[in-house]
Amino acid sequence: MDRILDFRSDTVTKPDEAMRAAMASAVVGDDVLGDDPTVRELENAFANKLGKESALYCPSGSMCNLIAVCVWTRPGDEIVMEERTHTFQYEGGSASRFGHVQTRTFARESGIPEVSDLTASLRNPHDVHHPRSSLFVVENTHNAAGGRIVPKSRIEELATTAHAHGLRMHIDGARLFNASVATGVSVADIVAPADSVMCCLSKGLGAPIGSCLAGPAEFIVEARRVRKALGGGMRQVGILAAAGLLALTEGPDRLATDHERARSFQRGLVSIDGLDADPPETNMVRVKLDESIDAAAFVEALRARGLLVFAVSPRHLRFVFHRDQRDEDVERALAILTSLRCP
Ligand SMILES: Cc1ncc(COP(=O)(O)O)c(C=O)c1O
Repeated sequence: MDRILDFRSDTVTKPDEAMRAAMASAVVGDDVLGDDPTVRELENAFANKLGKESALYCPSGSMCNLIAVCVWTRPGDEIVMEERTHTFQYEGGSASRFGHVQTRTFARESGIPEVSDLTASLRNPHDVHHPRSSLFVVENTHNAAGGRIVPKSRIEELATTAHAHGLRMHIDGARLFNASVATGVSVADIVAPADSVMCCLSKGLGAPIGSCLAGPAEFIVEARRVRKALGGGMRQVGILAAAGLLALTEGPDRLATDHERARSFQRGLVSIDGLDADPPETNMVRVKLDESIDAAAFVEALRARGLLVFAVSPRHLRFVFHRDQRDEDVERALAILTSLRCP
């Protein structure tokens, strides 16, 4: 039987032999006591790569984002972000549930905030009726906008504006390395103006678990305290950090392959009746269905033919490219789509 083609997410990859071997031979210790040399190595390598003073290894990207909210804000503050940002939409309301802040959102179809989106969202700091605006979150690449890249120049403008109004800026860089590979700008340069940044090791980079948060040394000291309070202190976790180290060092180089496959898929897709997509910027293709196609039914029909994909709206599917795919999967996916549209 043919292999299942899994285009749901870049989180579905499984560790390869080299990664499993690195995990098996990892030198470990109790990380909550600061004794795990592999975790230290990963945190140092991450901080160096991102050009920040210090870093913290966490179980998930969601926990990193929540920790950033907790450290940069006080209860009752307001945090600002685009309305389809992961932190607002898909993290279980954690910022309000555990961070005790409220979120103010603005709509921006491209996922790339304008400076005016930020300024229009700010509260009057002198009016006691208002919550205090204290944190601006930018997602790069923007997942729900289809892996769109927030350009370095925009990040600079947004950070300057945020800082001028007393806000911190946190970058949710779950897929920051995709933005870096696609633009040729180093991750450190992209995030230089931001106060903190999180990257997932468990998405395109290929680790089974884990994300890192980076920022000033004092921020990370406090972040470590919050991680413990959230139950995120882990013991001999070097066994996972070893996979994270390999993902961090070797993962970025092969993201260009995912981007190339995404582009080749989009080129083939636009000639299929009823389907359309803009050229992708990174590893996601957002496929628009014409009005005659019901997204949920279409996803089921694809599943029955061995192709897994998510509907991200009643009119859109999202195809994500990752390291557990092969070149021929692009043609196979296009053939399945064609067979459904032109039986
Ligand atoms: C943009 C973005 N931020 C944060 C996360 C959260 O990462 P995790 O699943 O590790 O909690 C995701 C996960 O898909 C994501 O896409």
